[in-house]
Amino acid sequence: MEKLRVGIIGVGGIAVSRHIPSFLALGNDVEVTAVCDVNAERAETVAQDYQIPFHTNEYTEIFDHVDAVTICTPNKFHADIAIAALQAGKHVLCEKPMAMSTEECEAMIQAADAAGKILMIAYHYRHTKEARAAKRFIDGGEIGRPLVSRAQAIRRRKVPGWGVFTNKDLQGGGSLIDFGCHFLDLALHLMDFPEIAEVSGATYNELSRQNDIVNQWGTFDPATFEVDDHATAYIKFKDGATLLFETSWAANLADDQETVSVSGTKGGLDVYPLKLYQAKYGMLLDQEAYWISDDENPGIPQAINFVESCRGNQQPLVKPQEALIVSKVIEAIYESSETGQAVRFS
Ligand SMILES: NC(=O)c1ccc[n+]([C@@H]2O[C@H](COP(=O)([O-])OP(=O)(O)OC[C@H]3O[C@@H](n4cnc5c(N)ncnc54)[C@H](O)[C@@H]3O)[C@@H](O)[C@H]2O)c1
Repeated sequence: MEKLRVGIIGVGGIAVSRHIPSFLALGNDVEVTAVCDVNAERAETVAQDYQIPFHTNEYTEIFDHVDAVTICTPNKFHADIAIAALQAGKHVLCEKPMAMSTEECEAMIQAADAAGKILMIAYHYRHTKEARAAKRFIDGGEIGRPLVSRAQAIRRRKVPGWGVFTNKDLQGGGSLIDFGCHFLDLALHLMDFPEIAEVSGATYNELSRQNDIVNQWGTFDPATFEVDDHATAYIKFKDGATLLFETSWAANLADDQETVSVSGTKGGLDVYPLKLYQAKYGMLLDQEAYWISDDENPGIPQAINFVESCRGNQQPLVKPQEALIVSKVIEAIYESSETGQAVRFS
């Protein structure tokens, strides 16, 4: 079997902490053959650190050296680079969020369809062992029909003060589009993407605009802080189910509350930590997982799923049409917050 040649575009934090090590962990099936970063020095350093044969500061130059690319640039560049890569006949794994707008997401899907190449989005929480097991429970009928889901992604005073995370022009928003998007995606995935009827939302950034800021993750200038640091939403589906959503980078609440819960007609579950709640044989029954594998890093199953999809052996777990729906919800939350009205989906 020939090795799949992978290139990484944008070799900052997530490229070196997740994608490059995950591809390298796959051994002989895959070779990281090229890296690109607009910061030429950064591209060269990463190429040297990981013995990657080709590096450049111009992304189109890596296409001759690869079969597939992973896009790890700021959100603003996801769509243009993905479309160029697909048009060059390359498979694409694109970091989340899929793009800055639903129009961009749609253009990416069109390019993938036209090229007949894989376009997968890196909503890596879906690849965690807990999320994979939760999906199997639901698909196996353990909780019946999902009725109410809650998705919470809360950090306490952890605005990422590095990189471009608080730059609206480059990222499209703050805690919602950057962090909350994972949990929206996971809740929608577990509910099997029911058709959306209506989205109401509110976003905040009052806390991060105060002068006496206390932040655990680096520093930022409150005077120029322009993105959301907290968002809430209420999503109604056409089948009557609902999703209660909250995310924050900077809440005055207990730190690191990350969970998705789903309550269904026959049972329910929490994903983190995984717990199944049922009522059976005249009693309430709770089950917890006893994990027997040390499969902790979701970057590896994500990389395997991408590589096997490129080889035609699997389907991407995160389909671009689903990531488009996540982007539609994000856009609707921002719109609803701005107008004060619910956004109806047709
Ligand atoms: N899945 C996750 O949990 C997760 C976590 C962090 C970041 N991300 C996503 O990954 C992406 C990158 O985030 P990061 O934390 O690695 O940021 P980063 O700032 O650390 O790295 C981005 C890199 O991209 C380079 N770059 C910028 N524009 C470029 C272009 N046009 N062509 C080539 N290189 C370019 C920058 O020089 C930088 O080295 C974002 O979309 C972010 O949302 C995902």
